Order: sequence, then C-alpha cells, then structure tokens
Amino acid sequence: MTSLFGALPPAEPDPIIRLMQAFAADPRPDRIDLGVGVYRNAAGRTPVMAAVAAAEARILARQETKGYLGLAGDPGFLAAIRALVLGESVEVARLAAVATPGGSSAIRQALELVRAARPGATVWISDPSWPNHAAIADAVGLARRSYRYLDAAHGSVAADAMLADLEGAAAGDVVILQACCHNPSGADPSAEDWAALAALLDRRGLIPLVDVAYQGFGEGLAEDMAPLRRLAARFPELLVTVSGSKSFGLYRDRVGAVLALCAVAAEAEPVQGRLATLNRTAFAFPPDHGARVVATILGDPVLRADWQAELDGMRRRVAANRVALAEALRSETGTDRFDFLTGHRGMFSLLGLAPGEIAQLRSLHGLYLLGDSRANLAGLSAASLPRVARAIAAVLGTPERA
Ligand SMILES: Cc1ncc(COP(=O)(O)O)c(C=O)c1O
Repeated sequence: MTSLFGALPPAEPDPIIRLMQAFAADPRPDRIDLGVGVYRNAAGRTPVMAAVAAAEARILARQETKGYLGLAGDPGFLAAIRALVLGESVEVARLAAVATPGGSSAIRQALELVRAARPGATVWISDPSWPNHAAIADAVGLARRSYRYLDAAHGSVAADAMLADLEGAAAGDVVILQACCHNPSGADPSAEDWAALAALLDRRGLIPLVDVAYQGFGEGLAEDMAPLRRLAARFPELLVTVSGSKSFGLYRDRVGAVLALCAVAAEAEPVQGRLATLNRTAFAFPPDHGARVVATILGDPVLRADWQAELDGMRRRVAANRVALAEALRSETGTDRFDFLTGHRGMFSLLGLAPGEIAQLRSLHGLYLLGDSRANLAGLSAASLPRVARAIAAVLGTPERA
C-alpha cells in the first residue's frame, strides 16, 4: 500500500497567495505591490483603524469570560451587521443569520446551505470574478457556470451579455453578485443595469447571493448597499455574505456573516438550525474577537462616527489615486486608454494588459500585478505612482516623455 499522501495530487495554488509569495521573495527594495487586495495608506501600510484599536482596548479592559457563545456567534454582532448591510429593507423574522470566520467562510456556508437545500442548483459566477467564488463552489460540489460581465474594451459592465447569459439559468439556480466595488474589475452595474438584472432574476426564479466585501469603498456605507437593499425588499429568498476584512480592516481576525432571507418567517428557524449545524461541522464556534470589535464600534455613536470618518478617508484616498494614475498614464502613454480608471469604484481595476506585459512589469520594473492585470489602486503612493505610470508606458512600447 502506498503511503497516505504518496498519491496526493498537488493543490492548485491560489493566484493571489502565489503572488504574495513571489513578492516576498523578490529582493529589490523598491518593488511595488499592486497585487494583494488589502487597503494600504499613503505610507504603504495596512493600518489598524483607530476605532478598532479603541474597541479592542475596551474589550480587553472589560471582558470577563472567553467561554463559548452559541454556534451562530454573538447575536449582538449579527443584529449590528444586519442593520449595517440591509438597513430596514427586510422583515427581520424572515432572516436566519450566523457569524463565520471571514467572508470566505460566509460564502462557503451559504453555498453549503444551497447544496443541502437544492443539490441540483447551478451557481452562476461573473466572468471575471474573485477566484475563490469558483473554488468554493467546486469545493462544495455544486455545478457552476459563468456569465459574461465585463466589456473589456471599455472597462464597463457588459449588461446585455450578462443578461443574455443569465437567461440560460434554470429556475432555482443561484447567481453570485457583488454588492459593490466588483473584484477584480472595479466596474459596478448602473442603477438601470441593477433594475434589469433584478427583473430577470425575478422572472426566471433565480436566487441572488450577494457578496458584500467592500461596503464603504464605493460611494458610502448606505449608498453602496442601495442595490442590495432593493433586491432584499423585492425577493422572497436571498443570500447575503458579509466580510468585515476590508471595511473594518480586520483581515486576520476573520469577521464574516451569512444572512439568509427566507420566503416565509416559518422557514427561518429550520434554516437557522441548518446554518448552525454547518458551523458546528466546519469550525464549531465562529471567532468572536473581531465580531465583538465590530459590534462595539457599531453600538457606540462615537466609535462609529470615528470608524466611518476613517473609512471615508480610505475611500477618498483610493478615488484620488484613480484620478492621479489615469492622468499620469494619459501623459505617459499619450492615449486615453486608461481613463476608465476614474469611473471605477473600490480598490481594484483590470488594467487590460497582456500576460507578457504583466511579466515584463514584474521582471523589468519590480511592479506586481495579478495575472489578469488586476491592480490594487490603494497600493499606490505619491512616490510610486509616477514610476508605475512610466513602467506601464514602457512595456506598452510607448515612448516615455521626459
Ligand atoms: C469579492 C470578495 N468576496 C469575499 C471576500 C472575502 O474576504 P475574507 O474571507 O478575507 O473576509 C473577498 C476578499 O478578498 C472578496 O474580494
């Protein structure tokens, strides 16, 4: 008999994790990381938000036990997240909710719930999307298909193609949508696109799974949730997955939640029970520290205002980087090819560069983008931005200006 692991096929490494490793191994001190999807401030650091530090100090001073909570996590955290994300758009009695270790596990648990309820459902994922959507659907064992999302030539949402592809979905299929700040494209549907999408999902009996990972990075906390809240008010059934990683800067503390809107209030209890069981068999109790930090911030008007102001500043910084990079690229390349950057929202855009150009950016200029040319605009600083524009112009073969 061979050894247990002798025939283990190698795991397909995640492209983002691979890029992090390559960047860490690159000895050039002036290398620039626009690959990894974390917020960075002007000094290139991913800061602990001030309200988070204050909430942590308060928790440390006052917490008297670290005994287990329920399998769903802290009810106070779940109520705060529900209000933050869904506002007043849904009847609370129709909701089941559990905390999870981050948004990734929220997606995992939401899709596990789908598989338990409807194993034949197909999960529809935008092309392009965050690679973990497809990976999680595969891990859960659900069939998946992709729908076209991006008009790459213009950097905008290809609404007609998206709607045409989703016409091919069967009633009861699940469609993953990103609430705002689409990763990796940066292109969000317009209000008209959302309305057409909602009409199609409704007409064809499709279930929206809305992934909320960048609340506050688009236009504002409430503005970013407006399309989701309209869906939640209209649809009998809807799944929402929430990540606290970006909006609270709590990446490594693993803060997330699944909110499952049920057709009728009587279904919420069995769904709640199933979600709790899914938690129990995956990790038992969800982590509490980050969730408690979020609940503390959202429950205290002073901390909340401070958090919101800092998040507003982060959003404004990324938006300013977009404008500055588009201007620098216009001047370095002599074209308006990158003007679409200013119309995008959130931290990411696809720059539309070819694989050879991305490889050259890395090898010749120490500039790291993802293989699909996703750039994290938060990774730019005043010092690196002109270098980035010059490097991109150079690999495009455009004469550099003096
Ligand atoms: C679109 C999207 N959804 C969900 C997540 C989940 O993040 P986490 O598991 O770190 O909370 C991410 C993180 O990059 C994301 O980009």
